[in-house]
Amino acid sequence: MHLIATHVNDSMAELRTKLVADSAQPGRAMDPYFYRSHLVHELELEHLIFKSWIYALHASEIPETGDYQLLEIGEDALIVVRCEDGSIRAMHNICRHRGARVCEQQTGNRKTFVCPYHGWVYELDGSLKAARETHVMPDFDSTQHGLKSVRCVDYMGLVFVNCDPDAGDFLGPLENIREPLGAYDLANAKVAHRHTYRIDANWKLVLENYLECYHCATSHRAYAKLHTFKDLYEKSAPIVEAMLARSDEVTGVDGMSKHYTKTYNDAESFGACVHTMRYGLYDGFVTGSQDGQPVAPLMGKIKDYDGGAGDYQMGPLSFMLNYPDHCVLYRFLPRSLTATDAEVVWFVRGDAVEGADYNVDEVTWLWHHTTLEDEYIIMRNSMGVNSRFFDPGPYHPEFEATLKHFVAWYRKTLLANCPPATD
Ligand code: FES
Ligand SMILES: [Fe+2]
Repeated sequence: MHLIATHVNDSMAELRTKLVADSAQPGRAMDPYFYRSHLVHELELEHLIFKSWIYALHASEIPETGDYQLLEIGEDALIVVRCEDGSIRAMHNICRHRGARVCEQQTGNRKTFVCPYHGWVYELDGSLKAARETHVMPDFDSTQHGLKSVRCVDYMGLVFVNCDPDAGDFLGPLENIREPLGAYDLANAKVAHRHTYRIDANWKLVLENYLECYHCATSHRAYAKLHTFKDLYEKSAPIVEAMLARSDEVTGVDGMSKHYTKTYNDAESFGACVHTMRYGLYDGFVTGSQDGQPVAPLMGKIKDYDGGAGDYQMGPLSFMLNYPDHCVLYRFLPRSLTATDAEVVWFVRGDAVEGADYNVDEVTWLWHHTTLEDEYIIMRNSMGVNSRFFDPGPYHPEFEATLKHFVAWYRKTLLANCPPATD
């Protein structure tokens, strides 16, 4: 079901008024205006989405020279490609002649990228190789017409991009989660499965849903049976603290139980959010599967199940939930005012053999079903929020604390880019 969200009398002055009013009530959910305004959507893309570090793909998905994937963000597309020198690069999929999309297929292998319109040819690194009949243009400088490049880093096989050429460093902040994340040896892991869930709702509703577990007990029966995260800490503390006390020793990984959080307004630079914590599974369960029992071989350096799960954030929109035998990555990207792509990627050990060591249906069961449940509740959330009669209520101080943290960053970012009227 597609919702037509609109806000007719829109202006920068209106936006600023709404932001100032909302910022004065930091403990309250956002005004519905922020889910209905095309002006807001445009400012979000410009100042927030295209200035943030975003997970693109796993390096193993483009192993050979010329292998590439498109990454679609809003109405834009990036090409992420393996170059001749083995490095991975990202560039805008926009021809430097008159702007046609150079590459239409979602994934594939190319020796060069040839624009379908007038045939300009680009090397894998984006430089312009040939432009037909331009020898009659004495001032034409091919070095000035390469595909526009996008910042791109590879962290343990996880490739992130940032469309802001002036973005701050991301690899430095990521080093703070190296001990626990390194345990999974993601650089040598493989993608067991990935799926894009298109959700007909504004991206903030999808992200906000991911950032809180207040809904877990009521919306996710299978998840709630296994994960203590659905409870207040006063209730789950004995299980979590016992798990943390044994985690490093049982898994054989120093720092497995590390807790580190610098996200949103606390990030080292804009959009360079980094977070890790480990939380407990109920006694008798060891992983995130249908019955809480192993579904794949232990990953990386991990020696045994500690009854815990690793929670990660990398950038404002990319997350991981890592169990000793498999990892699940989430990434949320706006596609329009009322459409969001939720990408879910399941990783297993690189040498695990499908059918012998794991079964895709078993590995993906819990988070596939949980994502469908989320889609259902987000759609209902979207319908209510898009009503002119919605009056936002208070955030829960513990369950919705992270969500409140995101909203504070969101409001601050928009406010900084929405100057007061000068006349
Ligand atoms: S728009 Fe690409 S060659 Fe003309
Ligand atoms: Fe959920």
